Amino acid sequence: MARLLIVHHTPSPAMQELLEAVIAGATDEEITGVEVVTRAALSCGAADVLAADAVLLGTPANIGYMSGALKHFFDTIYYPCLNDTVGRPYALYVHGNNDVTGAVRSVETITTGLRWKAVRPPLEVTGPVSRDEAWELGASVAAELMV
Ligand SMILES: Cc1cc2nc3c(=O)[nH]c(=O)nc-3n(C[C@H](O)[C@H](O)[C@H](O)COP(=O)(O)O)c2cc1C
Repeated sequence: MARLLIVHHTPSPAMQELLEAVIAGATDEEITGVEVVTRAALSCGAADVLAADAVLLGTPANIGYMSGALKHFFDTIYYPCLNDTVGRPYALYVHGNNDVTGAVRSVETITTGLRWKAVRPPLEVTGPVSRDEAWELGASVAAELMV
């Protein structure tokens, strides 16, 4: 069975809403043969990434960058995964109150270093949460793993 790993930092109700919508999409009953594993960024390790067929990342924007928690995740997994996850499909959602540009760029810089492959444009949410778009992101990434 294919495995989708959702790595997220969820420090507020808005982020929780986004996470729940992403999970709901990824676990929709029409998607079969895909196991969805969810890990908080601060508790996710290299073994989780190595065992995953695709990774969906979620973070708030924090001072023009990804959250410290997601950065810690990347610091933890970067070298253990560097040679073994080349081409790993990934997608990203970012939530902020006004500008998520720097946060998106910060993630893309690291995923470029890892040579992961973006399978969707980043979902950039400022202000009110877009549940439908988050659901669609989860569903579309999971659907790509169906055999
Ligand atoms: C320390 C800190 C830094 C932040 N920096 C940014 C930022 O650079 N850009 C932005 O759009 N939002 C920023 N925010 C807002 C968070 O992204 C926002 O709180 C988060 O997405 C959750 O949304 P909510 O507060 O509406 O629940 C920041 C929040 C905190 C606490």
